[in-house]
Amino acid sequence: MTATNRFSAYLVSKDENGTCHGEVRTDLAMDQLPPGELLIRVEYSSINFKDALSATGNPGVTKQYPHIPGIDAVGTVAASDSGLFAPGDRVIVTGYRFGMDHWGGFAQYIRIPAEWAVPLPAGLSPLESMRLGTAGFTAALAVDAILSQERQRGDGPVLVTGATGGVAMIAIALLAKLGRPVTAITRKEGAVRGRLRQLGAQEVLTPEQLETSDKPMLKERWSGVVDTIGGAGLEYLVKTTAAGGVVTTCGMAAGSRFSSSVFPFILRGVSLVGIDSAAQPTGKRTRIWGHLATDWHTDLERICSEVALDGITGCVREILAGAHIGRTVVKL
Ligand SMILES: NC(=O)c1ccc[n+]([C@@H]2O[C@H](COP(=O)([O-])OP(=O)(O)OC[C@H]3O[C@@H](n4cnc5c(N)ncnc54)[C@H](OP(=O)(O)O)[C@@H]3O)[C@@H](O)[C@H]2O)c1
Repeated sequence: MTATNRFSAYLVSKDENGTCHGEVRTDLAMDQLPPGELLIRVEYSSINFKDALSATGNPGVTKQYPHIPGIDAVGTVAASDSGLFAPGDRVIVTGYRFGMDHWGGFAQYIRIPAEWAVPLPAGLSPLESMRLGTAGFTAALAVDAILSQERQRGDGPVLVTGATGGVAMIAIALLAKLGRPVTAITRKEGAVRGRLRQLGAQEVLTPEQLETSDKPMLKERWSGVVDTIGGAGLEYLVKTTAAGGVVTTCGMAAGSRFSSSVFPFILRGVSLVGIDSAAQPTGKRTRIWGHLATDWHTDLERICSEVALDGITGCVREILAGAHIGRTVVKL
């Protein structure tokens, strides 16, 4: 912020044809920020699938433009009207309506309700927290759901789909760190498959290598599943999960519908667990971020790249083309 209270951000506008255009603006005024108890000077944000939708006018994510996307931010409290945080505190902001219908983290400053922030835990640098971002928090929620299912067998392989995406790559790294065998499924060919092995996947498959059958249940293969793509393939994941196993579902790049018989649920006790990163209570958010800073801490530098505000448009295109790999952090 300069003496004239101006700040820079990636602002998305919609033209009269309904087409969205994102541009870096250096002339935004502090009084344009939405209301909230905390004014935060942002250090880093990151680019998620949902940001790509927001930046291109998806009404399921953002209805009002001009808009600043960015569902993640880490930074320092510059001013506080809340007893929860004081100026100088470092906080992570994810979830709720942040970056959706409330201006988000692709900006040097944000203003938010205090309950949207959690303290940056000791053991996690601001950059590391945004290498994780909502993708890492979501991966950790899925891993937590798989680990906390008491009835699951415990040591069978965990399957991760959409393996080169941000959520999936972090899930692979977390599971490998926790000593769990991982099978990854990716549509991509080439060197990225070696990268998935280096990250901790013991086996890397293509969707074509999976069995197709009309049978209501197939051979038990996975003790847990981190499914990031949804769609019809979810039926296969449910019917190949071992007795007591947990299938988590968080994304829908491959579709929002699937069908299944009830047999895997009533004969094998398989659970289908939905992961919602946006509306977790503060206690659970703090617990999960605490794990990510300590016993689940992993070095994600090898799967991350960094851009400035002017690199957001290119990254959004890559994500929407399904060609993006890993995580991209935005440095403010
Ligand atoms: N529920 C929640 O709270 C929550 C939180 C965060 C993210 N999400 C969702 O989780 C999903 C993953 O997020 P992300 O940030 O990891 O996204 P991402 O980095 O864009 O990764 C998505 C991955 O899905 C695969 N994919 C993309 N398009 C596909 C298609 N048409 N058919 C099949 N596979 C496709 C690709 O993997 P391969 O090329 O390797 O197959 C891609 O790398 C997104 O749908 C996102 O909206 C949900």
